[in-house]
Amino acid sequence: MKGVVLAGGLGTRLRPLTSVTNKHLLPVYNQPMIYYPIQTLVNAGITDIMVVTGGNSAGDFLRLLGNGKAFGLKHLNYAYQEGEGGIAEALSLVEHFAADGPVCVVLGDNIIEGNILSAVNAYRAQGRGAKIILKKVPDPQRFGVPRLDGRRVVRIDEKPAKPQSEYAVIGIYMYDAEVYEIIRSLEPSARGELEITDVNNAYIAREAMTWEEIEGWWTDAGTFESLLRASNLVAETGANKMYFEAQR
Ligand code: DAU
Repeated sequence: MKGVVLAGGLGTRLRPLTSVTNKHLLPVYNQPMIYYPIQTLVNAGITDIMVVTGGNSAGDFLRLLGNGKAFGLKHLNYAYQEGEGGIAEALSLVEHFAADGPVCVVLGDNIIEGNILSAVNAYRAQGRGAKIILKKVPDPQRFGVPRLDGRRVVRIDEKPAKPQSEYAVIGIYMYDAEVYEIIRSLEPSARGELEITDVNNAYIAREAMTWEEIEGWWTDAGTFESLLRASNLVAETGANKMYFEAQR
C-alpha cells in the first residue's frame, strides 16, 4: 500500500502564522507538524510516500524533508496543488503515483498518540473499497460526523450543526484505486472545495465502506486552539507510539 500526506491548502484559520509559511511547517512541540503524519505512515509499514503541498513555501518541504532520511526513507515523492481546491482535489494529484493499488491518506495536520497498524491490516484483509477511522470527541460539529447503524456507517455529515453521533471522522483514510474515478464525479461544495466527505459518502453508497475506532488521543492542529492542544499532548505523552503500556 502506498502512503499520501496532504499538506496543501492555505491554512487561513491560522493567519498570521501562515501568512508567509505553510501550516504544516509550523512547530508542534519539538517537531514540524508534517513530521507526525509521515511517521504515522512509516509506523504502519508504509514507506512509498507522496507529499502533496501547495502555497508559497512549497520549496521549504524539500529543504526540510529531502528524501525522508529523518524517517529512515531512501526516497520521498512530491506533488504541488495550486490554490485550495479541497482535500479530494489534493488527493486527485497522486493518481499517477498510486493508480495501481490502494492508498492510505493522512491529512498533514492530523496527529495521533498511537498507530494505525490494526486498521491498515484490517483494510489489507478487506481487499477493496474504503476504510475510515473514528474517534469520540466533545465537539463533533467541527468535523465529518458519521451516522452509525451498529457496525454500519450510513452517511457522513460534514461539520453538521446537529451531529448524529459523538464521533469525528479523523483525517486518515484508506481507498482502493476507484477513488480517482469517484473524485472526477464530484461537484464543488458550498465552500468551493472537492470534499473528502463526498468521496466517503460515495463509498458508503456502494456499500464498500468500513470503519475502526482509534486508540489513544487524536487531534488536528489547524486552529489556534487545536495547535496549542496538539503541542501540549505531544509534550505530555508523546505521539506516534508503536505500542501502548497496556499492550506490552
Ligand atoms: O481533521 C479531520 C477533518 O479534516 C475531517 O473530520 C473532515 O471531515 C475533513 O473535511 C477535514 O476538515 P477540515 O475543515 O479541518 O480540513 P482542512 O481544510 O483544515 O484541511 C485539512 C488538511 O487537508 C490540511 O492540513 C491540508 C489538507 N488540504 C486541505 C485543503 C482544503 C489540502 O491538502 N488541500 C486543500 O485544498
